[in-house]
Amino acid sequence: MATSPATLPPMLGGGAPLLGHLLPFFRDPVRLLRRGYEENGGVFTLNLGGRHLTVLLGPDHHRFFFEETNKLLSIRDSMPFFLKMFSPDFYSFAEMDEYLRQRAVIMPRFKATAMKQYVGIMAGETLSLIERLGECGEFDLIPTLGPLVMDIAAHSFMGSEFHEKMGPEFFELFRDFSAGMEFVLPLWLPTRAQIRSQRAKKKLHLILQSWIEKRRAAPLATADFFQGMVEARYPDGGAIPDEILRHLILLLVWAGHETTAGQVSWVLADILQNHDYQAVLRAEVSAILGATDGRDIGWEQATAMRQMDFALRESERLHPVAFMLSRKASVDFEHDGFKFRKGDFVLLAPAVSHRMPGLWKDPDAYQPERFNPEREDSQTVSNSLIGFGGGMHRCAGVNFARMEMKIVVALLLQHFDMELIDEVRPVSGVATMWPAQPCRVRYQKRGARGTAGAADVGALARAAGCPVSH
Ligand code: HEM
Repeated sequence: MATSPATLPPMLGGGAPLLGHLLPFFRDPVRLLRRGYEENGGVFTLNLGGRHLTVLLGPDHHRFFFEETNKLLSIRDSMPFFLKMFSPDFYSFAEMDEYLRQRAVIMPRFKATAMKQYVGIMAGETLSLIERLGECGEFDLIPTLGPLVMDIAAHSFMGSEFHEKMGPEFFELFRDFSAGMEFVLPLWLPTRAQIRSQRAKKKLHLILQSWIEKRRAAPLATADFFQGMVEARYPDGGAIPDEILRHLILLLVWAGHETTAGQVSWVLADILQNHDYQAVLRAEVSAILGATDGRDIGWEQATAMRQMDFALRESERLHPVAFMLSRKASVDFEHDGFKFRKGDFVLLAPAVSHRMPGLWKDPDAYQPERFNPEREDSQTVSNSLIGFGGGMHRCAGVNFARMEMKIVVALLLQHFDMELIDEVRPVSGVATMWPAQPCRVRYQKRGARGTAGAADVGALARAAGCPVSH
């Protein structure tokens, strides 16, 4: 049977002369990507000022994208900024053998057995925040949970002494360093943000090097993550250069910071808007933590919070912070009847595919139970939920991030009654999507007062003399 010749994917309509879809893409990329799907289905192309980006949607295309990464599709050519933030022989930029050697240094540190040591840090840092928040008041999601995520990362990956002594300085420098992330410009340009990022990078490396040397001179009796890294060798027994060690530590903090801060904010915002499921989660948290304050929560208890797992997955589906994944075609090729040209970008868009009607029942509804594998109507098609990516480059920190989000949300629910003050709206930078600020939560300590219904939080806060805004 004759097959029809491959054609270029359809170009999304409505592009302006020269600029193409650049302005609507910058203004609201998710809306543009959704329009692309509605008008063209699962494969279409955008024109960003002459650069062509072909979007692939749906599990079969996702599988193709993950399997062809480092073959037909290049990850390194899609992230020129990474080269400046790190170095040419580092991680995704290194040759495959070197990437695998470096990856093998960090992956064992996120296995279940290693993860157990981070649980106490996650609980301890969350409880410090809870203590600082006090009896009642208001907090804004991102400005409150962002620093908490950074505290957890600094404490987990650099050790408690580093965290206590260097915390605020490290946080400041890290913010400047992260601003070097630039997903849209095809070239590195010396903008102010980029120059600041390079300066911060130099200082961060100096700080980390001095701590590496300090640890070598005086190793801890019980090794933590940092000690493990300082003492690690490649699987073939070779020594890891200090520069690579410093990059690996910065990579973990960088890759896990904005993403986790945004995703945990979505998880909490979704729960606070869905009172029925909030009640299910509160019941689960109190059954597992009992009357304790959660300080001694263990790996087993956190793992047993299955309803919370479903809530994390449902927020990942509805609000994937990494809402686009990008690669560049290394050669001309054909896929699914379409031609792809060398140099064109290829994108996945979880923010769109996670709501495809043929794939998800009631795609816009918040229904965490859809992820319950024991239910007959459970929706767990492989390669359909891709908020943490897939294939070889799947998120190295997925177990860490899920455990962290679980503990933060469980302890906030255990300690506070909460309600949202502001309407929750998404805001997308070009790399990640998180709830727009302000997204304030009014909270009131639970406990002696018993459990307030969500609607009573304002009244209780007023009665306790707390300021209440409207
Ligand atoms: C909710 C939080 C997080 C989300 C949504 C997230 C999402 C992702 C995604 C989508 C990718 C794949 C990117 C691609 O294929 O282009 C990725 C890769 C990665 N993530 Fe995460 N991430 C999160 C947290 C973390 C944390 C906490 C860490 C470290 C502790 C981390 C470390 C990494 C690393 C090292 C990679 C690169 C993997 C590789 O190329 O081999 N992430 N992440």
